[in-house]
This record gives sequence, structure tokens and C-alpha cells, in this order.
Amino acid sequence: MATTYNLKPWALAATLVAAATTQSALAEDAHSYAKLQEVATPHLELDLTVDFAAKQLRGTATYDLARHGDATEVHMDTRELTISKAEIWQDNAWQETQFTLAEPHETLGQELTISIGEESDKVRIHYHTAPTASGLQWLTPEQTKSGKFPFMFSQSQPIHARSWIPIQDTPALRLTYDATLRTPAGMLAVMSADNQLDTELDGDYSFSMPQPIPPYLIAIAAGELVVKEISDNVAVFAEPYIIDDAAWEWADTPAMITATEEMYGPYRWDRYDLLVLPPSFPFGGMENPRLSFITPTVVSGDRTLINLIAHELAHSWSGNLVTNASWRDLWLNEGFTSYVENRIMEALFGERRAQMELALGYQDLLENMERLAPKDTVLNIDLGTRHPDDVFSQVPYVKGQLFLVYLENKFGRETFDNFLRQYFDDFAFQSISTAEFKEYLARHLLAKNPGVVSMDKVNEWIHQPGLPADAPQPTSNAFAEVEKQMQRWLKGGQLKTEDWTTHEWLHFINNLPLDISSVNMRRLDEQFNLTQSKNAEIAHAWLKLSIVKDYEPARDRLRNYLLTIGRNKLVSPLYRELAKRPDNLKWAREIYQQAKPGYHPLTQTVNEALLYPQQ
Ligand code: BES
Ligand code: ZN
Repeated sequence: MATTYNLKPWALAATLVAAATTQSALAEDAHSYAKLQEVATPHLELDLTVDFAAKQLRGTATYDLARHGDATEVHMDTRELTISKAEIWQDNAWQETQFTLAEPHETLGQELTISIGEESDKVRIHYHTAPTASGLQWLTPEQTKSGKFPFMFSQSQPIHARSWIPIQDTPALRLTYDATLRTPAGMLAVMSADNQLDTELDGDYSFSMPQPIPPYLIAIAAGELVVKEISDNVAVFAEPYIIDDAAWEWADTPAMITATEEMYGPYRWDRYDLLVLPPSFPFGGMENPRLSFITPTVVSGDRTLINLIAHELAHSWSGNLVTNASWRDLWLNEGFTSYVENRIMEALFGERRAQMELALGYQDLLENMERLAPKDTVLNIDLGTRHPDDVFSQVPYVKGQLFLVYLENKFGRETFDNFLRQYFDDFAFQSISTAEFKEYLARHLLAKNPGVVSMDKVNEWIHQPGLPADAPQPTSNAFAEVEKQMQRWLKGGQLKTEDWTTHEWLHFINNLPLDISSVNMRRLDEQFNLTQSKNAEIAHAWLKLSIVKDYEPARDRLRNYLLTIGRNKLVSPLYRELAKRPDNLKWAREIYQQAKPGYHPLTQTVNEALLYPQQ
């Protein structure tokens, strides 16, 4: 396998970035005030102090300017930022320049417009963040496991980078960055960049990200972090309490990288490290380049949840290398990634496991689609200026994945793999829209294999709600076996679960009849200890059922679960279920108020909408 380590393709890509940016800027992004076709910002230099007492990042953002016309202003995105000064580099010195901050827009934040004159090719912004920045979470020492140091981290996707950096916050832009960070001594700061494994903990850290990335992939975290290497190019960063468990859990990561390279071409980001976040991290994982951010809730002790690592790793091809040009095109990131994730799982662990995961995803999708407005089940979704976070669902993930499974089935695996590999190569380090993808698909797959799939069919997948009638309907033999056992068990028989992994348990719990008796609930719990399951996914499925069934013995665990976990996918279905009954809603609001100080801003927003709906 030829690798590109010596060629450094990003060096070439960086020189092309201005051209690439102009091209993809043609795709409109309704979620950014940037005008890339006038002036773009292909390189950022950050200089920031991490101030835990003030819950504030403070310092400067300096940009290279790429001018594509004679505009004398650059437009950027901000949210709750305080800007004290803007300067441009002119006549070999920094000169103060005028800027304006527009009125806040509820979803988009505030447009920042800076005068840049006619010649200058650098702008510098002095600013600080708000303690309530939507893209940051600040934890006190008491909110961490050891209690010794505070912790902070970012979550920039989709439009939260603007809450901690004044930036052209559109994925149509690609930029490289360097950063200098100052933290209290004794803590480690890491970024989505070239993290060193043997950094001295002196509170002074510097980073470089030489490959051009979209703004939503700029990431930062700081806390009591230690490192453990899994292989030459993979290491785990984590708080000490979980470092050994996480390194054990994810031991297969190097093999996953190799398998993906064999299918889709070289891993182009140098190292691939993993960072364990506190349990309040609002997602399962986030594909920050070179350093995926991962929830501790997948460190289950049995390696059954590592499809999440496969997923974040897969983004190194789909998402980070070839990037959605706007949030309407999110399915190009998440659908492709879910597809690649499942292929990695199949390559490492075989078809049976991959098929179970696909079937679980399909069930989630069907459940999701029941409560979504039809127009929000379209892949190339019409967001308007709605916040992408408010429309988050399994549609771009699983419907997108099923579309690719459909294409694979139609064209055959070999043809489709070759197509995908070429796609990653042709669009490497570029941002593309759904329209550009369709054009590429038409030319490189449909036209070369005439009569297999029509453009009408492609349009139905991409632009129509729901699923096409001939969409794949993934099932699993393993699950059919689980269902047979369930029927026997419901009639009083015994369950044989010795070989069950998380997957079978999830399928079992999610498909128990809703009229299951409380005697049977108790019987299950006594035998398998589900209320106390250490597996956060199994516990989640069981607790959700326990709310529906009013199963009292699970209440204490439910309280504890909601108070200690902030991963939104595990938390919000529970609040949603609780909100359905007035007595449960009252209880849920009490728990929520107690849990709120420990929740991430995203988890707060989503769950407040469930518990305190606007009439
Ligand atoms: N990039 C996403 C998370 C994301 C998507 C954040 C859109 C904000 C907006 C990440 O890769 C992801 O999909 N995480 C999933 C993993 C799962 C599908 C295996 C998660 O967090 O649950
Ligand atoms: Zn993803």
C-alpha cells in the first residue's frame, strides 16, 4: 500500500486552497455570514489563555486573507464573543482598524465585519469568550473524577466554532492553523493538531495543523490528561482513572486503520489519537482530525461498542478529507461515514456483527422517522435558517448509509469500492455540495454502468422524504434467533444468553412487547441485573422501558444515570419518555434542575425544549 507520508499531499492542497475555496463557495451556506467569494481566510493563528476562573478563552485570532476581488471588508461569524480590537497588517506594522458587530441572530449569532483596506493580507482580532459559549464546556475540579484539576473542551460542529473563535464558520472554507495556548501548570492542553506524547506540563503549549480543514474541526481540550500508546501511530489521552481501560477497549484501532486504508486509500492525517472526555460530553464521538473526542460511556469493558471508534476513524476519509459544503449536505459526511464504519466492522469482526449493527441502526431510523416531519426525512434537507442541532436525527446517518448499501448492491462491491476510493481521492481536502456529488456520481458510476440505476432513482433517495419502496431493509439472523428465544421466554421458558453481546441485548430489550407484565420485568432484572448494567447502552434501553412500564425498582438508577451522564443520545430519549406523563414530568424537571450545572450547553438546550416546551 502506497502511503502519502512522504508526499505530504496537504502541502499541495494548501497551495490550492484558495482555488478550492472559491469553487465550493458557490454552494450557498445559509448558516454563515462569510462571503468566501470576496475574501477567504486560509490560515489561522490562535493565541489564547485558558482562564478557568473566568470560564473564558482570551487572546487573539490572526488570519491570512485571500482576496478574490476588490472587497475592502471581511465577513465573519461570532456568537457571544466580546471583541476589543481589530487590526490589519499594513506598512510592516499592526494598525487598528474598524469593525462592526451586527445585532444577534438567534441561530446564527452576530456577523462581524472588519475593514481590511485594499492591500493588507493579514487581520488580527482581540477577543474573549463568554462563560456560556455554546461550543465550550467548563468543568470545575469537583466535576472531574480525581477532583484535582478543572477540565474544558470544545464541540464546534456544526456552528459552534464561532462561539470560541471569530471565524468564517462555514464548512465550505478550508484552513490550516497554528495555536499557542496557556493553561495553569500541571494540566495538559490538546487540539485537533500535532499533539506530542511527551509534552512537559508547564502550561505553555503550541500546535500546528498543516492540513486544510473546515472550521468545525478545530478543537481544544484541557484537563488532567495522561497518555498511553496503543501502537506507533495511535495513543489514548484520558484522565488517569480511565486510561488503562480505554487503551484496552480500543486495542483494535490500529487494525481498523489498516483495514480502511486497504479499502479506501491512505490515512492522510499522520497520527490518529483518541481523547476520552468527561461523561458530560454531549456526543458519542467527534471526529476532530488526528484526535477523535470520545465519550467514556463506550468504555464498557467488553469491546462491544467500538463501532463508535470505527465511525470516528471513518470520518478521516468521509467528512474530514471530503467535507460537506453546508449543513444541508450533512448526509455526505454522516451517511458515507456510517457506511464506511460498517465496512470496517465487517472487515475486522465479520458479517454477522456488521449486520446486527446495520439492523439496529435501521430500527433507530424507523423510530426516528415516526416523529419527524416528512420534509425532515429528506437527505438533502431544507434547513432554512433553523439550527442544525434542532434538526439532528438518524436520517443523514442511516438513510444515507442505506443509499450507499443500495448502490453497492446494484453495482457490486468491487465496482462500488473502486468508485468510493476514487471519490475520496478526487475530492481530497475539498468541500462539496450534494449537487456536486450527484454530478460526480452520474459521470463516474451511473454513466459507466448504464441501465443499472437511474438518475430518477438517485433523486428519489436524495430529495424525497421517507425511504424508496426498494430500499434495503436490513435484518439479522442473530436477531431472528433472539426473537425466537423471546417468544419462548414470554411463555415462561429460560433465556440462553451466554453468547449474547450488547447487540443482542439491545435488540431484545427494544423489542420486548410493550404489554410485558411487571412480573416479567422483575424476572428479567433479577436474573440479568439490567437495572445495574455497567453497559451504558444496555442500561439506557432498559431505563427507557422502565419509564414506559413504570417499573419502580429502576428509579434510583435512572436518577443516578441522568445525574452522571450527559451524552445527549443517551439522555434525551429518557427525558422525552418522562415528559409524556405529568407526574413523571414533574420528577424529570426536578432531576434536570439538579443535573443541569453538569450538562453541556447542547444537552441543556435540547432537553429544556423537551421538558419546558414553548406553547
Ligand atoms: N460528527 C458527528 C457528531 C455531530 C454530528 C456533531 C452533527 C454535531 C453535528 C459524530 O461523528 C457522530 O456521528 N457521532 C455519533 C457516533 C455514532 C453514529 C457511532 C454519536 O455521537 O452518537
Ligand atoms: Zn459521524
